[in-house]
Parts: sequence; C-alpha cells; structure tokens
Amino acid sequence: MEKFIIKPCASLKGSVRIGGAKNAVLPVLAGALLTEEACTIRDVPNLSDVETMGELLISLGVSLDWNRENGIITASVGELKCCEAKYNLVGKLRASFLIMGPLLARLGEVRVPLPGGCAIGTRPVDLHLKGMAALGAQIEQTHGYMIAKAKKLKGAKIYLDFPSVGATENILMAAVLAEGQTIVENCAIEPEIVDLANFLNSAGADIRGAGTDTVKINGVKHLKGTDHTVIPDRIEAGTYMVAAAITKGDLHLTNVVTDHVKPVTAKLKEVNMQVKETAQGIRVFYEGDGQSVASDIKTLPYPGFPTDMQAPFMSLLATASGTSVITESIFENRFMQVGELKRMGADIKIESRSAVVEGVPRLMGAQVRATDLRAGAALVLAALQAEGTTEIGDIFHIDRGYQGLDVQLNRLGASITRCV
Ligand code: UD1
Repeated sequence: MEKFIIKPCASLKGSVRIGGAKNAVLPVLAGALLTEEACTIRDVPNLSDVETMGELLISLGVSLDWNRENGIITASVGELKCCEAKYNLVGKLRASFLIMGPLLARLGEVRVPLPGGCAIGTRPVDLHLKGMAALGAQIEQTHGYMIAKAKKLKGAKIYLDFPSVGATENILMAAVLAEGQTIVENCAIEPEIVDLANFLNSAGADIRGAGTDTVKINGVKHLKGTDHTVIPDRIEAGTYMVAAAITKGDLHLTNVVTDHVKPVTAKLKEVNMQVKETAQGIRVFYEGDGQSVASDIKTLPYPGFPTDMQAPFMSLLATASGTSVITESIFENRFMQVGELKRMGADIKIESRSAVVEGVPRLMGAQVRATDLRAGAALVLAALQAEGTTEIGDIFHIDRGYQGLDVQLNRLGASITRCV
C-alpha cells in the first residue's frame, strides 16, 4: 500500500492545466456501449477509476485502446458478447452501474450486481431502477444481482424524487434507443449531464434540454460512432483552488470552465481569497496577511456547492479564524475526514448532518488515512500547511480521482513523497 509523506511548504505558485473530468468520462464510456461503431474520447484522465471502467467494458466484449500519453480512448464496441457486469468491478466502482441503461437498450437484458454500501453512505439505486421500469423493463433481484429485461424499451414520462446524477445519466442512455419520447422531470443539471448529452447527440441521439430540470429524449433507431472531448474536471479545479487558499499562494488554472466552479469561487472570496478570470482560465491568489475567515457551507445539487468539494473546503476552514458550519445535504455519511483532521489538531464537532468547525491557528502533522477519494484530497491539502510531517495511508483512494496530485503539487512548491 502506497502512502504520502508530506512536509509543510511555502505558498504554492505556478500554473496547472486541469484534466478531463472523471465524472464525465465514466458515463461517456458507458454511453459508448450504445453504438457498435468506434467512439474516440479525448482528454481522458489517467485514473484508476477510468481503468476499472475500461476493464468492465473489455469484459463485455469491447475492444478498447487507451493512449495514456495523449489521453485518448478509442472504444470499438461491435457485437456485445455479454450482458453481465462482474461483481469485483462493480464493487470497486459504483459508476459501473451506469452500464445498465445502455446494455438494456442494446441487448434487451442486463445483469448488474448491486453496488453495495460505500464509505460515504448507503447510496441506493432505486431511482435508476424506477426509471428503467418506467421505460418498460421487468426488474428482479436475485443473489445480489439486479436483472432487467425488456424486448423493446418504450418512451415514458419519469419524475425523479431527487435529482440524482447517476439515475439521470442511466435513464438518458436507456431512453436514447427507446421507442418514442421520454421526458425526465426533476432531473440532475450537473455539467457532466450536459457533457453526456452532447456526446450522445454527436452520435446521433436526440436529447433536448440537458442542463435544465426537464430533459426530452426522442428515441432513435441507432447511434453511430463519434469523437468527443470531455469537459474539464470542476472538482480537480476546485481542489487546486483550495490548495492556493490554504498555502496563501498564487495559482493559475487553465482548461477550467469558470461557470462550473462558481460556488467554490464564491466561497473562496468569502474567506478572503482573490479569484480572477484570465484569458486562459482562472487565477486564485491571496493579498493581505493573517488567517482566512470562517464561512458556512451547505452542499446542494448543482449549481449549489458540490458535495465533492465539502471535505477539501473543510481543511481550509479548519484553520480559518472563527466558527464555520458545514452542512452535508447530499450524502448521509460524508464526514469521514473529520476523525482524521481531528488527529491533526482540528476542532470539529459533528451534529447530525452538520459539522461545526472552530478554526485553530495551525494543524499538526500526524499519521492519518484516506478513507475515500475526497476525504483523501482534504488530508493532502491540510498537510500542506500543518506543522511537522504528515503521513497519509491508503492513497489509492486519491489516485481514483486525481491524476498525479503529488507530482503536480510538488511542481508548484509542495513537498510530497510517495512511498510504500
Ligand atoms: C455522482 C458523482 C459523485 C458526486 C454525486 C453528487 C459520478 C461518477 N459520481 O454520484 O462524485 O458526489 O454525483 O454530486 O458522477 N440516490 C438515491 N437513489 C438513487 C440514486 C441516488 O436515493 O437511485 C441518492 C444518493 O444516495 C445520494 C443522492 O441521491 O444521497 C445523490 O446521489 P447521485 O446524485 O445519484 O450521485 P452519484 O451519481 O452516485
């Protein structure tokens, strides 16, 4: 098991190019199953989650070529050989449940293991299944697998009880080849949904309204191959923005959609950072002296403050002057980083879905463990300014969603060693 040894650093300075979005490329790869023709996907980040999704596609009979140097995946689906996802892959990556919609649409049958619990909550899939059932699928659960069957999916009107990102994506993909029109109401409006719709439309789908809470999908007979560049990763961008804030540095992020990081920008300004748009992206820097100031945060569906940025931001507020209240309204158990930050000297109390953070002047290095992807990123950020050395274990979680976080941060002035 690899770990990070992190020593405190001076202010981070320099420029970072943000990579393609993990949460966009995973559904796009699932969407490639909808056509037998080759799809080229560009700006694919070199992440273990993408690797797992690739393995899953290969296990279904897809021929996949991934050039990691230039971030291009070519997926040639052709004849699908299998309609069953392997338990070991779905267990590693919840997003693999996204193959349900495309496989059901292409093969009329799909067998996917229930993803099970994960560190940040139980994360049910009821909304995905309700959507498939509304499109005419027969669904049964047997021996830990969900089996969905439908000779031909039929368009339907679907209202989502909650704007789930994954359920919206799965339903969208199933509906693309269904007979007639599907209308999804109260659907997710995250930029990754728009990216998926753009990818599918470029392959010949007829999806309208992606990015609003009502999407209309007119079923088409088949999709063709296409060439698509995924959107920049707004969570990776947000993480570097917080790194600039924690170290009172000056970072210039390129390949970033400023609109997508608006909620993070707004909060950084509240805690006294300067955020300026530039011709190539965004610059985050600090002018003045003293500590950042406290701020309250509530996570919400897009365009609210993203739940994926909650843990990284908590590391910043842990040393801000004053009391911050962070409310997590998307996942029921997403404060896994709190125990670890407390080991580093943070003063945080959890009260139901809120964490009350009393800022302390400085955190202390300690031995801690990444419990999930974003909690792991939060610990790296906290360690950049903690007094003494921090050792972070289980960093495989961090590699799931950040390409070379240690390498990039070192280039900007951090001192992070990866070792076993
Ligand atoms: C996606 C992102 C994840 C992000 C999350 C919220 C990917 C690969 N992952 O996850 O990084 O944190 O959006 O922005 O894109 N829910 C149900 N029933 C369902 C589905 C979801 O109750 O059938 C609940 C979940 O338990 C959770 C909430 O809805 O409490 C949001 O989940 P959802 O939007 O589906 O997140 P994911 O797509 O899993």
